[in-house]
Amino acid sequence: MTCKIDYQPAADLLDGRIILVTGAGDGIGRAAALTFADHGATVVLLGRTISKLEKVYDEIEAAGGPQPAIFPLNFEGATLKDYHDMAETLDKAFGRLDGILHNAGILGRITLFEQYNPELWEQVMQVNINGPIWMTQALMPLLKRSTDASVIFTSSSVGRRGRAYWGAYAVSKFATEGFVEVLADEVEHLGSVRVNSLNPGGTRTAMRKAAYPGENEMTLRTPEEIMPTYLWLMGPDSRGHNGEKFDAQPPKHG
Ligand SMILES: NC(=O)c1ccc[n+]([C@@H]2O[C@H](COP(=O)([O-])OP(=O)(O)OC[C@H]3O[C@@H](n4cnc5c(N)ncnc54)[C@H](OP(=O)(O)O)[C@@H]3O)[C@@H](O)[C@H]2O)c1
Repeated sequence: MTCKIDYQPAADLLDGRIILVTGAGDGIGRAAALTFADHGATVVLLGRTISKLEKVYDEIEAAGGPQPAIFPLNFEGATLKDYHDMAETLDKAFGRLDGILHNAGILGRITLFEQYNPELWEQVMQVNINGPIWMTQALMPLLKRSTDASVIFTSSSVGRRGRAYWGAYAVSKFATEGFVEVLADEVEHLGSVRVNSLNPGGTRTAMRKAAYPGENEMTLRTPEEIMPTYLWLMGPDSRGHNGEKFDAQPPKHG
């Protein structure tokens, strides 16, 4: 597993690229959307809370980045039709897609499996893996029209080694890792689409606070501090890497 925390990106690394970021309104997704735009990308901001997406939109505009787009979508209720309508909208607006950062996710509950609520389990699987999978299927034609498309799925340390009480969250991340291997193998022959998994490691966000309420959050890196690996994996310098697992920070922080 590779970590590119010391990567020094070119200022125009993502110039002209159209990149979709899910969960772009908060936490790591927000930082990624702002960072990608800062490096020249036209960012499609997807999320379930429109007010948060609008704030990110305004921040990108205020910083002089390329005009972003907002795509409100809740993975909990989204249907196949929503994903296909989305593909049609993006096709009309841009004609292709050069990257997707699958970042939206929920924690569910940290609890003994024997006490796990089945409805919550399904909700976590829906948001963390099933929704993103069907969205990706609908967007494949747009990704194939890019000359260099990078699809990043967000994993977790508990998606690489199981841990007690992490329930559906851990299982959804293991499924994410498995799906990355399957899709990466299928697109390998194209040479123009790559699919990899990225574990952010412990990062100062609302989700981390919910998972570790007693932790001193000042010991954690901020979303902005882990962006070098995100930029490397989204941009042209990672071309040729497909079906691999990456870490955004050294493992001791995971
Ligand atoms: N932070 C960490 O330490 C850590 C460690 C390992 C892995 N990760 C992974 O990194 C990713 C980002 O986590 P984070 O820490 O930044 O979490 P976060 O601050 O809770 O942000 C999660 C984002 O996902 C969006 N989201 C949640 N449910 C959604 C739904 N049903 N439909 C659409 N969007 C939805 C949220 O939207 P709202 O703001 O509208 O709720 C929010 O923008 C997740 O995949 C997480 O599993 C995080």
